[in-house]
Amino acid sequence: MRPIEVDLGPRSYPILVGTGALAQVGTVVAAGQGSGAGGRAALVADGGLPAAVVDQVAAGLEAAGLGLVRCTLRGEEAKRLRTVERLCAAFRAQGLGRDGVVVALGGGVVGDVAGFAAAVYLRGIALVHCPTTLLAMVDSAIGGKTGVNLAAAKNQIGAVHQPRAVVCDPLVLATLPRREHRAAFGEIVKYGMVSDPGLLNLLASWPAPGGAEPDRLAAVIARCAASKAEVVSGDEHDHGRRAILNYGHTIGHALEATLGYGRLRHGEAVAIGMRVAGRLSVELLGCPAAAVAEQDRLLAAFGLGRLPRGLAADPPAVVAATRHDKKALGGEVGWVLLEAKGRPSTGNRVPESRVRAHLDAVLGA
Ligand code: GLY
Repeated sequence: MRPIEVDLGPRSYPILVGTGALAQVGTVVAAGQGSGAGGRAALVADGGLPAAVVDQVAAGLEAAGLGLVRCTLRGEEAKRLRTVERLCAAFRAQGLGRDGVVVALGGGVVGDVAGFAAAVYLRGIALVHCPTTLLAMVDSAIGGKTGVNLAAAKNQIGAVHQPRAVVCDPLVLATLPRREHRAAFGEIVKYGMVSDPGLLNLLASWPAPGGAEPDRLAAVIARCAASKAEVVSGDEHDHGRRAILNYGHTIGHALEATLGYGRLRHGEAVAIGMRVAGRLSVELLGCPAAAVAEQDRLLAAFGLGRLPRGLAADPPAVVAATRHDKKALGGEVGWVLLEAKGRPSTGNRVPESRVRAHLDAVLGA
């Protein structure tokens, strides 16, 4: 298992991807903590994980000589400041010091909340991510974004706090619900379109959802992780090229917000957004139509790119919601579009009438 490096000078860190990688977590954490055995590790785990997975990680940490503090989180509603305060209080009560380390074991919510707690507890302690969902492995566990929601909007409070390591073990994905698993391929196809077109070939003959063997999954996760590591290494604070990761997200976020959070999985929303952005790329940047057709075919093969039955979007509201996109500058949305596969272009202004036309076509198709 050759680590993938996020290259940030003194804050560089490895991403380990491989079947059985979680068995190494104690060694990785002790090494990342810097102080070797004898410190304390706060294991912040998703309460919905199989006990065997949590126990395996806990045993690995103890075997590496780390004193264990156990905390549990559950669901998107845990993603608020009150939870961060609860975690920090538990860290303090159980003697986690400045040489302590937070080990986040779960999906995006656990990573974001535990990561933010690690960023602010004692003004910042070490963090190791052990993502347990496909989406977190290919995206949120890499790059240091942490934070919580406000009642009014998601991810409004946070910090960039890079982990010391990321450990991705596809064996933990066996119990991931099918819909979650499938939806993550929205983000995976995105990496193929914005930075690694060769990945699209790997996906072209993908077995039915849930049917891919862990080693094959590990190869795909590693390619996505390498893409994200390269982008983050060049733009840690998201002031430039990191925006390419937002391909499909302008409409994706607007759909999630207008339909009500939780109705669509993030990857499902992004996949619909990619279809709209793909059509705009052909019209406005001359992207080859065949590239966008390939994207749409792949998404469809994963059951993505359309609203699930029973859900209806409100196109004018979706277009209006794009104005609140995080990447909007001076009130204007900067669209990520494609000149070709692997050649993204950021900061594009797009007339709302064209967004609406392509959104209608995608939603009606
Ligand atoms: N999820 C996009 C980023 O980390 O920048």
